[in-house]
Amino acid sequence: MHVLSSQQFTPKLLGDIFLKSDEFREKLKHKTQRRLLSKKYQGEVLASLFYEPSTRTRLSFEAAAHRLGLGVLSTENARISSSAMKGESLEDSVQVVSRYVDIIVLRHSEIGAADRAARFSTVPIVNAGDGGGEHPTQMLLDLYTIWRKYGRLDHLTLGIGFDPKHSRALKSLLHGLSLFKGNSVHIVAPRPGQLSSSQIENFRNSGLRITTSNNVEDSYAYELVYVNRFQAERFNDPSATKPYQDAYRLTAHHVKASKIKYILHPLPRVKELDPEVDQLPQAIYFEQAENGLYVRMALIDRLLSARL
Ligand code: NCD
Repeated sequence: MHVLSSQQFTPKLLGDIFLKSDEFREKLKHKTQRRLLSKKYQGEVLASLFYEPSTRTRLSFEAAAHRLGLGVLSTENARISSSAMKGESLEDSVQVVSRYVDIIVLRHSEIGAADRAARFSTVPIVNAGDGGGEHPTQMLLDLYTIWRKYGRLDHLTLGIGFDPKHSRALKSLLHGLSLFKGNSVHIVAPRPGQLSSSQIENFRNSGLRITTSNNVEDSYAYELVYVNRFQAERFNDPSATKPYQDAYRLTAHHVKASKIKYILHPLPRVKELDPEVDQLPQAIYFEQAENGLYVRMALIDRLLSARL
């Protein structure tokens, strides 16, 4: 079974993954259990094949694999350090790598790359981001983080910004929220970063209530706020994001005076989140990144015990 899209998860499956994530979190705290865990999948191997930059996704997957006893093969810059540089297709690389390992974690700059890879792989492919498409494991850790704070994933209201159009993390999050009843989001973004009306319609059809605006002040009006950076690399002219980067920012001063209780961010941040916010109790994005380790352990565990 492959993990290609946030849409393949059901509330029941998410619940199981979250409970398993909690279990791994606890086990890692105790030396004896930590050591036992690191023998669980000895003899299995995970390859991370990353054609696009990453810090958290790749390292947390690799840490998760090591924590569970897998061996890890890492191609952190596959675009230039693998045979892709010689003109090899993704399909050919995957046909070969899947003969060496038990799981492939793939990040690529093209939408649909993980689906293409899955057609040629004999082992599970995990989509760790396909261009501006999907980022299902980011959705897992985002929902897990919210679930740990609220104890539920339904009837939530979120303020979301600032570049959903080019962000696989935000799109996958919106898919995830639409799996549960009664969720509403207000999306704050300048026009070039806003979802198209057909994208918004699709989310609405799956049950998510959506309102939009381009007013950054609106981001301070929600208890739960999720922001991201402008994905400059996905704009035709990356410098065109400059004015938006200057205008769409959460500052410590405004956060303090707002009704915000929690701020999430997939990271990396650029200008949209003032580093001074880190000192405030609302900042939970480093905790969110830590959660990536536990949910990825839970996912690897599921894939290897073939329950997904
Ligand atoms: C995100 C990504 O790569 O899509 N990062 C991540 O995986 N945590 C967000 C981003 O790059 O802005």
